[in-house]
Order: sequence, then structure tokens, then C-alpha cells
Amino acid sequence: MKAEILKMLKERRGFVSGQELCEELGVSRTAVWKAVNQLKAEGWPIEAVRSQGYRLTGEADVMTSSELATILNTSWVGRRLAYFDETDSTNIQARKLAEAGAPHGTLVVADCQNAGKGRRGRTWSSPRGMGIWMSILLRPSFPPMCASMLTLVAGMAVVRGVEQACSLHPLIKWPNDLVLEGKKICGILTEMSTEDEEIRYVVTGIGINVNNEEFPPEIRETAASLRMELGHAVRRSPVIAETARAFEEYYEIFSRTRDMSGLREIYDGLLVNRGREVCVLDSKGSYRGRALGIDDEGSLLVEREDGQVVHVISGEVSVRGVYGYV
Ligand code: BTN
Repeated sequence: MKAEILKMLKERRGFVSGQELCEELGVSRTAVWKAVNQLKAEGWPIEAVRSQGYRLTGEADVMTSSELATILNTSWVGRRLAYFDETDSTNIQARKLAEAGAPHGTLVVADCQNAGKGRRGRTWSSPRGMGIWMSILLRPSFPPMCASMLTLVAGMAVVRGVEQACSLHPLIKWPNDLVLEGKKICGILTEMSTEDEEIRYVVTGIGINVNNEEFPPEIRETAASLRMELGHAVRRSPVIAETARAFEEYYEIFSRTRDMSGLREIYDGLLVNRGREVCVLDSKGSYRGRALGIDDEGSLLVEREDGQVVHVISGEVSVRGVYGYV
């Protein structure tokens, strides 16, 4: 009911009478009053005037299930939504939901993660109210070898989401980081469960630094947030909604070919180190080369000094700029 009241208040941009809300929702005045109070407690600036009703007096960075339910404009991502005020990790929760039978497209969002997971066993700083910590549960029919490309698909979706919601233009540091002015604003962690060489489910976790004003010392030099770039606070729910919408679009293109052929051109245009010299570090050592773009399988093409083009596969490999992170 909270979501419906919120939707009506947002659409009206003026007073909605208590009577109207009761009639529309088929509930008592007390029930409406209670729901409005809950919305206020969540942070919505709602004014109540005795003879006129209720009215939203401004915008707020509220990211609850009612807000997400009203703002999401998707066909399948987030049709089932799990919102946590605080949790260990949205990837862990998405996996639990998957094991319990949750459907393709289930979206898990948290305001705070106390055990956020990064790549390679690292932790992911996820302070309350500062960022978007979310995971999308997928149940694809394609083979496990395709799953790592979902990280690239998600990266493209976040670029579009950030562009649409805040007019910033991040770029992608292959395979899973988004950068603005050379600093990381987003990381993606895709995890998969398989059985008999088939995917049971995939969880694509997305962490976006939105309103952070400071970072832990170990990432202070390389991390940034949307707020730091814009100079003002950003509402998180529109970024989630635009990202979810873009993800659906790109995922559908990807699913048709089960590779990056239909998305490669756009991805290459977003690659921060395209044409630049990079340093590739793998388990055997490191080498330098020029990043050319990706191939249809999502590997990074790196041209070495002798002209040989290496197809770098994501996983236990790190690609850095020659002079630093990008
Ligand atoms: C990385 O760059 O190391 C990947 C970071 C991924 C962080 C996100 S936040 C939402 C989801 N839940 C997690 O525990 N991790 C991912």
C-alpha cells in the first residue's frame, strides 16, 4: 500500500485527499495515516494539511522497496524485489533466494552491506546510504562459458544508467570497473552456480559509489563517487531504475547471440584504455601492449610490441595503465 500511496503523491504533485486515497486503495483512513507515517519515517518529505490531504514537498534519496517499486520501469528485472536496510552482501542474499527458487530477474538491493564482496576475495566498502549495492539473479539457458560476459553487459548498463540519471559519462576499465576522471566509481562481481556443465543461476552484483565523500585509506587514491564528480548529492533510485532498464535491453541483445558481437561496438566505444598502452599481469608475469578493444567472447585484445595480438581472458588477470590504475 505504501508504494501505491507514494505513486499517487508523486504523480499528483499537489494535495491528494485522505478520502481519495482510502477510496482508491479500499482501506480505512487510519490505514492510510499509518502508511503515510511510515513513508515519512523512511525519509519522504510529506506534508499533511487537515482540510486538503497529503502532499510531497520535495525529492529525497529514499531507497526502500516502495520507492523502487514505483520507479522501476522494467519488464523483468526487479519484478521480484528484495530490499535490505542492512545485510551481509546482496550477492550472498541473491544466491540464497536463488536456492529457494526465486525467479530470473530477481533484484536484491541493500542500503548497507556489512560483508560486501569484491573480486579476488577482497572486501567491498558499502557504507549506509552512500551507494548502490545490488545484485541481479539470472537463470540463463546459455552455457557456463558465456557467464563472465555478463560482467561486461552489466558494465555497459551502469554506464547508461549513470548517463541517463545524472548526465555523467563514465568509461569502462575492462572487464569490470567503471571510471570517471581515472577513478573507480563502480565494480561488478559475477558469480555462478553450475550443475552437470549447465548454469543453475548467475548472480551479477553491482556496487556504485554514489554519495560517498570519503573512502578507506587503501582505496582513497583510486576511488571516487558520483557526488564527488558532480559536487552535489545524487538520488540513488533513478540510477537503479535506469541501470535495470538498460541491463534488460543489453541482456536481450547478448542472449540472442550468446556473445558480445551485437554489443562490441558500443563496448569498445566505452573502453577507457582503448588505444592506450597497458600492462597485463597474469600468473606467469607481466607484459606491455596496446589495448585494441574486445573480441566476440569478451576477451581484451592487446597488441604486443612484436605485433602479436593476445586475447586476454578475464579471471585471474589484471590490466593496468602503464602509469597507474587506468
Ligand atoms: C570489484 O570491483 O571488486 C567488484 C565489487 C562488487 C561489489 C558489489 S556491491 C553489490 C554486490 N554485493 C557484493 O557483496 N558485491 C557486489
